[in-house]
Amino acid sequence: MNILVIHGPNLHLLGRRDPEIYGQATLPQLNAAIKKHAAGLGVKVRIFQSNSEGKIIDLLTKNAPWADALVINPAAYTHYSYAIRDAIEALCLPAAEVHLSDISKREPFRRVSVIKPVCLVQFKGEGPVSYFKALNYLTKKL
Ligand code: DQA
Repeated sequence: MNILVIHGPNLHLLGRRDPEIYGQATLPQLNAAIKKHAAGLGVKVRIFQSNSEGKIIDLLTKNAPWADALVINPAAYTHYSYAIRDAIEALCLPAAEVHLSDISKREPFRRVSVIKPVCLVQFKGEGPVSYFKALNYLTKKL
C-alpha cells in the first residue's frame, strides 16, 4: 500500500514553534518516525511539506495516481481552505486528517475543519501518534 503524507504551512518550524503545543520534535524527526511506523506496517510513504495552498493541491494531484490513501495535516488551511477540501474530494483519495494538537480545545477558529467532511477520519491531540493512528486506520480500512 502507498500512502501520501502531506504537512501544511508552518510545520517546517516544528521543534521551535510553540513546543508546549506542538512538541519538541523537528519535522525531519517527525518524518523519520512516520517512515519507521509505515515500514512496520509494510506501507510505502511519500512525505511532503508545503506552505502554499496551490502547491499542496499540485502535490495531491501529482501523487494521487501513486497513492492508495492520504494522511494530511492541513495546518491552518484546515480551518478555511475550500480549495484543498475540493481537491481531496475531486481526487477521490481515502483520507485521514491529522493534527498534533487538539484543535477542539483551542481557539474558536481552530475548532472548525472544512477538511473533515471529505476525510474518513480525524486524529488530533496526540502529537506524532496522531499520524501513526492515521496510518494504522488506513491500512486496516483499505
Ligand atoms: C495544527 C493545528 C492548526 O490549527 C495549526 O494552524 C497548525 C497545526 C496541528 O497539527 O495541531 O499549524 O494542524
